[in-house]
Amino acid sequence: MTTAESKNAAAPRSWAGRILVAGGYGAVGTAVTRALDGWFPGRVVPGGRDGARARRLGGVRVDVSDPGGFRRTLDELGDIAAVVLCVEPPDAGIAGICFERGIHLVDVSANRQLLDSVGELHDVATAHKATAVLSVGVAPGLTNLLARRAHLAVGGAERIDLTVLLGSGERHGADAVRWTVAGLTRPVTARPARTALPGHGARTAHPFPFSDQYTLARTLDVPEVTTRLCLDSRPLTAALFALRRTPVLRKAIAHPAAQRLLTASFSRVHLGGNGFAIRADAHRGDAHAAYALTGRQQSDITGLTAAHVTRALIAPEAEPVPPGVHHIDQLPTLAALPEDLAAHGVRVHRQHRGPAV
Ligand SMILES: NC(=O)c1ccc[n+]([C@@H]2O[C@H](COP(=O)([O-])OP(=O)(O)OC[C@H]3O[C@@H](n4cnc5c(N)ncnc54)[C@H](OP(=O)(O)O)[C@@H]3O)[C@@H](O)[C@H]2O)c1
Repeated sequence: MTTAESKNAAAPRSWAGRILVAGGYGAVGTAVTRALDGWFPGRVVPGGRDGARARRLGGVRVDVSDPGGFRRTLDELGDIAAVVLCVEPPDAGIAGICFERGIHLVDVSANRQLLDSVGELHDVATAHKATAVLSVGVAPGLTNLLARRAHLAVGGAERIDLTVLLGSGERHGADAVRWTVAGLTRPVTARPARTALPGHGARTAHPFPFSDQYTLARTLDVPEVTTRLCLDSRPLTAALFALRRTPVLRKAIAHPAAQRLLTASFSRVHLGGNGFAIRADAHRGDAHAAYALTGRQQSDITGLTAAHVTRALIAPEAEPVPPGVHHIDQLPTLAALPEDLAAHGVRVHRQHRGPAV
């Protein structure tokens, strides 16, 4: 046995095994696969339902809507230490299969119900020494980390407002556009708000069902958290939310055929740029703290965020992360992740700290 082999044999499974990236050739998955391959050469297995395409990339066919098939794929691969989900599975079944095998999980999903049901498997994950990190990406993800900073800066927020601006010129993945269109049909529970975003000026953003606002209310114990969305193109933002304001249109877009049509149309419209911005404002009495973050290509930055989180779970030199299911903002070791992305053009801006304005 060579020195490297004996080191591998002694290393825990999580250090030595391979990483399966489900959705690994999609918009987010491509960035995950590329970054992880740089850090762990030969240990990254991209997967998707198109077996031929996956194999061309050195990967395998994998379908997260087929639990039996997913189990068989893990058995055949034999040495998977972590699964990165870059596609939303229908339920928490895939997470459960990973946990029972002691496989770590990183999930970029933005679906509140799914994240809640994976959270219910905390004890299963803990019993098998598996760690799952949820709320990974830009929103949820970096928004959670900024919210936590602003929350701590005011000594515990009573209210947090999150704002997300997406570039309408970016080629967002089909799955992400589908998610956004579906979000337009959800009931609205808060008002639009005007916020300044670095590089984009004062913008009106509209309440949108991002999962971060629901999970942060619990993880930070803040009574009121609202996430709002706008696009860099003002006319497109107005058109998008006019659809939702008109009851007849809102009803119409709830129909699956209309959602497919809208998804196809939005995927073709590239009116603005590829820059994105997020901002977290925390309020407590007179105290107000706000942090913002800017970058380009949210799919790439979501993928890079997922890759950094995966590295934190499996790299031998990383600080140990406790087993169980966690949202990104619950792990202090990931608090500086926004700064770790500086080499990829991500900038953190402190907007305001002091009495409320
Ligand atoms: N947290 C965040 O900030 C954030 C940001 C952006 C996106 N997202 C989430 O990330 C996910 C991916 O978005 P995306 O923009 O990368 O979409 P995308 O470009 O459409 O990629 C999805 C990938 O998943 C594969 N796929 C679809 N169904 C599958 C299944 N049942 N089993 C295995 N693979 C499957 C697709 O390939 P095949 O069709 O060939 O299988 C494709 O490669 C979405 O759930 C989105 O909501 C999160």
